[in-house]
Amino acid sequence: MRQSITFLLVCMLLLAGCSSINTEAANDSDYRPLIIAHRGASAVEPEHTFLSYDKALEYEADYIEIDLRRTADGELVAMHDDTVDRTTDGRGLVEELTLKKVKALDAGKGQTVPTMEEILKRYGSEVHYYIETREDDEGELVMEEQLLQLLKQYAIPKEQVILQSFSKDSIRALHKLDPDLTLVQLLKKNDVEKLDEKDLQEIKDIAMGVGIYAGILEETTVNQIQHRDLEIHAYYRGDERKWTEEILQYEVDGIFSDDPAFLANKVEKKE
Ligand code: G3P
Ligand code: CA
Repeated sequence: MRQSITFLLVCMLLLAGCSSINTEAANDSDYRPLIIAHRGASAVEPEHTFLSYDKALEYEADYIEIDLRRTADGELVAMHDDTVDRTTDGRGLVEELTLKKVKALDAGKGQTVPTMEEILKRYGSEVHYYIETREDDEGELVMEEQLLQLLKQYAIPKEQVILQSFSKDSIRALHKLDPDLTLVQLLKKNDVEKLDEKDLQEIKDIAMGVGIYAGILEETTVNQIQHRDLEIHAYYRGDERKWTEEILQYEVDGIFSDDPAFLANKVEKKE
């Protein structure tokens, strides 16, 4: 009788052990980062055009990432650079061009530069937006209230919007305008190098995560940040294929991908 009870206990312990191993394996295989279409599917279609956003949605990206600039007449347009030189057939600073002038430009494949309002009109609350605010060239905050007003006007649910910026002032201003916003503080190399507990606490007080260039990410940094219950979203500098494997090993929470189909495939293969 005692032997059978001991045997039973040993079996039960073994079973518990197996299930925990399975659970650990299951957790890792469950890993799936947010796939954020960086400027849309910008490796496949001209960045920040409806072609690249449509392609990103076709590839089932979780978010479309939008960089914002403000024109001379106060319109918010989707544009990464401060000039239209690299991505259109035009020349000049966005903030010195009227919307009419910007809309006359070819942003690639005959596409025009979309305004933030046109993007919201086209996709409404069908998609998730990951929007980057920027200070103007004088370092002034110029777009936070206007952007929130637009999101409200088109009734985009807050849970479908992440707002990000390299500008700490912009993130602080957005939090002040609406503490319920989901915010991500983008960090530059020197921010990361001197990142300490005080910095992380300041970020955590108002934001749910940080954005860091994949090329400077180390496992220790990822652990330091994730241990503070902050999400970490990695972005690339045109070198996605160089860093993807390593970034997936770190199990970052989100990845800005120029090619969401490529990333989804890599994630699937990792599972
Ligand atoms: O927002 C993440 C990433 O897009 C930041 O860099 O220069 O591509 O806007 P950038
Ligand atoms: Ca960006």
